[in-house]
Amino acid sequence: MNPPPAPTGSEPGDAPAPGDAPASGGPPATGTDRRPARPTLGSDLKASLPDGLVALAVTAAVFALLLARIRSRESSTVSVMPFMADAEGFWMYFLSQAFGWAALLWAWLTVLLGLLLSGPRPRGLPVSGPRLERLHRTTSLNTIALIAAHALLFAAELVRHDTARWHSRLYTAFVEAFVPGGYDSGTGQIAIPVGQAALYLALPLGLLFYVRHRIGPRTWRVLHRFVIVVYVLSVWHTLLYGTNVWYDGWFRTAVWLLQLPVAALLLVRLLRPARRSERLSRPGLAAPGRGRAAWGLRFGGRLAVVAVALAILAVVVSGRDGGRTLPPADTSSTHQHD
Ligand code: HEM
Repeated sequence: MNPPPAPTGSEPGDAPAPGDAPASGGPPATGTDRRPARPTLGSDLKASLPDGLVALAVTAAVFALLLARIRSRESSTVSVMPFMADAEGFWMYFLSQAFGWAALLWAWLTVLLGLLLSGPRPRGLPVSGPRLERLHRTTSLNTIALIAAHALLFAAELVRHDTARWHSRLYTAFVEAFVPGGYDSGTGQIAIPVGQAALYLALPLGLLFYVRHRIGPRTWRVLHRFVIVVYVLSVWHTLLYGTNVWYDGWFRTAVWLLQLPVAALLLVRLLRPARRSERLSRPGLAAPGRGRAAWGLRFGGRLAVVAVALAILAVVVSGRDGGRTLPPADTSSTHQHD
């Protein structure tokens, strides 16, 4: 979830990508060298404060909304798990949900920013390249923090509602929330490891940016491309397990709809990458040394993104978004969430 690296280590024939900070990867500014210092984890953590505060405000607003919906019995979380009707008794769970939504929103934002940096920059964008790049880094750091808060609050709720001894409660909650395979019932058997995979992949794929001068900018860049997988896992986890998007309805469809700009920007980024060496030219022509297989792979990737965009469009237009059918209003749900 971080920006593409600096020109240092770029491939032959590369023009600097618009998202490249002038001095990332270079030494700190000295004397007449007026280039800004290389961003460090410390400096970016400090810079993350403003959008971190906005993220907390969004989380608070979502939390208030979720509580109001629980109290008025409109929330589908209560239809799925009737014992959760006690808004005060399960406040940590609802706060965890609120952090989940903020995490997903920040992941969405940071992915869009990253794609703007590595693809063609729209004309008339009122934000400079370095500023966009910094925003991409700070929203990435905040996404990781929001996911961690979401998972920790879920674990805290498990601890609170367990009656065993303290150490055993802590151990069980840790295993269920953080160890793949530790949660062994219902849809969570798949959905929880999917969320965990997103968190555990986000850490290296985002944070390795701060040691890219050690691992090499090219290695960093190649690894960072896979961060899109983190985003796909996050959306999958949400649509599979979120009780507020459990049933068919406009909100679930809206979550799908929000994936259209991501697919569209990803396609544009692949078709017109900022780095010349990433462009798809006719096999063997502008990519000497690269075989037809590599070209086929790149072409196939672009076709796959077109297919995904069309599939999302079909889901949104048809409204067939994989949600469960609402249970009749006069009965408790028989759906198993766990
Ligand atoms: C260790 C990793 C994770 C754990 C243990 C975890 C746990 C959970 C649980 C138990 C739920 C069900 C809550 C409900 O009843 O709706 C849930 C839903 C959700 N999760 Fe996660 N999650 C993890 C990772 C993630 C990630 C990476 C994201 C997104 C960036 C995310 C975003 C969400 C969202 C948006 C919901 C829907 C909440 C709702 O319906 O109100 N989670 N997660």
